Amino acid sequence: MAVSSFVIAVDGPAASGKGTIATRLGAMFGLPVLDTGLLYRAVGVLTERAGADLDDPDAAGAIAGMLSAEQLDDPALRTRAAGELASRVAIHHKVREALLEFQHVFAAQPDGAVLDGRDIGTVICPEAPAKLYVTATPEVRAERRWKQLKGQGEDVAYADVLADIRKRDARDGGRDAAPMVRAPDAELLDTTEMTIEQAADAARRIVEAARARWKASQEAD
Ligand code: C5P
Repeated sequence: MAVSSFVIAVDGPAASGKGTIATRLGAMFGLPVLDTGLLYRAVGVLTERAGADLDDPDAAGAIAGMLSAEQLDDPALRTRAAGELASRVAIHHKVREALLEFQHVFAAQPDGAVLDGRDIGTVICPEAPAKLYVTATPEVRAERRWKQLKGQGEDVAYADVLADIRKRDARDGGRDAAPMVRAPDAELLDTTEMTIEQAADAARRIVEAARARWKASQEAD
């Protein structure tokens, strides 16, 4: 059976370019975009601010259950520290379950939506008509993230950012709950050697082809 709304799932590791690609795809196809990393970042930051234990699934799960859209605008969520907090709370099944509905409601918008994260094509929207898995080498990703953090005024060494990236890749890919993994039907987009323009263009071509297949399946129904 054909899926009725056009969801684009963009997964991949930190600083692979998936966020920028998701934003560009949203503009190209006229769809709203959800950066699902912000949800986990918010849970991590709010859990820490509450003085609760980040490693306690019940504490972090309760905070995830009370999360609202307005809490995603906080600039503190964009920091390096927030990425680390996010990855710690993201291992908890209770946190992931509490964030499911928010993501499903967003994905169910009539024309469709773009969601970027780690488990969109595997767990959140396994039926998405378009799936991309965006990646790049850890060194290239660390350089991108380092430049971005410097631009935000964070004084951090490249070697520390690379160590963060490797640690997060290992934790996100090795966890039991919705590990970061390429869905079998996701198109691999390796952006290591690409500018953001080239990556966005390659993503557009992948999604256009997926949309043509999806439209044909709608008409056949
Ligand atoms: O994408 P971003 O770097 O903002 O994600 C922060 C962390 O949130 C990731 O390292 C990962 O642990 C977690 N995350 C996740 N599932 C998602 C999005 C993010 O587990 N769909």
